[in-house]
Amino acid sequence: MNESAQQFGKVAVLMGGLSAERDISLLTGKAVLDGLLEKGVDAEAIDAGHDVIEKLSQGNYDRVFIALHGRGGEDGKIQGVLETLSLPYTGSDVLGSALSMDKLRCKQLWQSEDLPTPAWKVLAEEADLKNIEELKLPIMMKPAHEGSSIGMSKVLNADGVKQAWQQAKKYDDSVIAEQFIEGAEYTVAILDGEALPVIKLETDNDFYDFDAKYQSEQTRYLCPCGLSEKEERKIQALALKAFNVAGASGWGRVDLMMDVKGKAWLIEVNTVPGMTSHSLVPMAARAVGLEFPELVVKILATAA
Ligand SMILES: Nc1ncnc2c1ncn2[C@@H]1O[C@H](COP(=O)(O)OP(=O)(O)O)[C@@H](O)[C@H]1O
Ligand SMILES: [Mg+2]
Repeated sequence: MNESAQQFGKVAVLMGGLSAERDISLLTGKAVLDGLLEKGVDAEAIDAGHDVIEKLSQGNYDRVFIALHGRGGEDGKIQGVLETLSLPYTGSDVLGSALSMDKLRCKQLWQSEDLPTPAWKVLAEEADLKNIEELKLPIMMKPAHEGSSIGMSKVLNADGVKQAWQQAKKYDDSVIAEQFIEGAEYTVAILDGEALPVIKLETDNDFYDFDAKYQSEQTRYLCPCGLSEKEERKIQALALKAFNVAGASGWGRVDLMMDVKGKAWLIEVNTVPGMTSHSLVPMAARAVGLEFPELVVKILATAA
């Protein structure tokens, strides 16, 4: 074991968990663990089930890498446990995690800071569906707290509204209808206070849905993203600001859409983005010469 790997002590990689994104988290966790082990870090996996507090408190750990996606792992809950156990952990703190996970609260914060995010309506009850008349179709229907495009759909006409709402409502009490931005999709990885090169995402599906994210071979990822240097810097600055306003820290990823006029719109912050070898943060890191094992060690070093 080399000296820099030793400084981290014994590391737990939290993965799996109980959220709808469990399977993806197991892939992220395995990749992170392998990367840390390759670099000589004394790391081991913990599947974050109901006994996670027991495992964490009895394992003699010095530091934790959170590789959990979705509820319980990305929303401030496990972060609160780790604070209580005085264990340093990667990524955002309790508040930053909770705010970023809550798409509605996050949009409200951005709006209050004059950061661009698509117009939206909250649809808690069926009676609220009439409120979407104030938005132009198409709209994006989404549960306020899920990830991996779960429960989401693009609604093209008024007939589709109710079914899309019911679908989103299955996953969350709080449903958001958001103006659909026609244009290009970009994502910006954030590492230790800096934005990495922008990635452009292209899919032939209606949007970057579960299939486009994890299954399709047809999804295209462009890095360099094709924007001019000046435009790219602007997007990076916007993403970093949006990340900070949401209270996020350490590392993460900001999703944006750019409309046909070239205006960027903030979609969401991911505080524990996917970290498989095919994921976007590793792709952006590679563009600045940072290979996967170095990247995970860098993320681990931001744990506080
Ligand atoms: N307002 C929008 N306009 C156009 N596309 C959108 C909009 N909101 C979401 N999308 C599409 O849906 C995908 C998933 O939405 P997102 O809010 O990032 O949820 P998730 O947490 O599931 O990733 C985005 O990557 C994008 O392709
Ligand atoms: Mg997203």
